[in-house]
Amino acid sequence: MKPEIIVTGRIFPRTQESLDREFTCHKLYEAPDRAAFLKRHAPAVRALATFGPFGADGALMDTLPKLELISNFGVGVDAIDLDAARQRSVIVTNTPDVLNDCVADTAMALVLNTLRRFPQSEAYLRAGSWATKGAYPLAVALGGKTLGVLGLGRIGEAIAQRAAAFGMKIRYHNRNRKSVGYAYDADVVALAKNSDVLMVATPGGAETSKLVDARVLDALGPEGYLVNIARGSVVDEPALLRYLKEKKIAGAGLDVFDNEPKISPEWFGVENAVLVPHVGSATVETRTAMGELQVENLRLHFAGKPVKTRVA
Ligand code: 8YV
Repeated sequence: MKPEIIVTGRIFPRTQESLDREFTCHKLYEAPDRAAFLKRHAPAVRALATFGPFGADGALMDTLPKLELISNFGVGVDAIDLDAARQRSVIVTNTPDVLNDCVADTAMALVLNTLRRFPQSEAYLRAGSWATKGAYPLAVALGGKTLGVLGLGRIGEAIAQRAAAFGMKIRYHNRNRKSVGYAYDADVVALAKNSDVLMVATPGGAETSKLVDARVLDALGPEGYLVNIARGSVVDEPALLRYLKEKKIAGAGLDVFDNEPKISPEWFGVENAVLVPHVGSATVETRTAMGELQVENLRLHFAGKPVKTRVA
């Protein structure tokens, strides 16, 4: 008998195939009546496979009396109520490390595109403006600029290494200072003040909600850039929209937003921002590795062994 699990959201197809091979999967996202679905499967379900934004709250956990494990596809577990899981002795796992390089590549792509304005200059070429209006206006160089990493964790460090290779100076802010060779700022306002590009790489969730607010954007200033590859929740988005439109900061590169995927349509007209639809880890190789880790945690747990990457 295969263990029974609930899959909360549509998952990378290759991962869903592995899940189907090893477990009996009930797909919550296909259920026309959520309450009836949960009632029907509650007596047998021992684990949840979650995917990024389709997390799990205490109410969902309460409907599943046999729940032992929540295995998330993704490193960020901000959509899972970790306290509720702890209180119910439910193990939570994520997929760290395997995505560091791809997310850091995305972060660097956003830095490059935001400062050098490649998407905007490509649009200029495609509009036929090169011949009619002349050369595209000059952009801003990366070399010699300071990148301030807010959240120097495993992904933050991978970004810092890349940025250093591009000739950027690195500073950072974390709750606790690390033994690394980068300059440390004691708070996010000081980091923004000392940086040309503020890179948001901190976990999402209540503790970091709107950490980057108008005060931070003021400190970044009209020549500063913001890049966010973490979570939309870390930034006060209405303030960021206002600062970009009023040119109170120079530009932004964003992989993450409030209310994904139905982001504010205000973004569509913001010319000094480079916007991508949460593709930080979105490569075949990385998503495959993330899926393998998600499945591995479930497999280990059901074999009575310790899971590999436990967060709670
Ligand atoms: C994924 C992410 O896009 O790992 C994370 O926390 O944000 C990304 O790698 C996400 O897991 C998709 O749900």
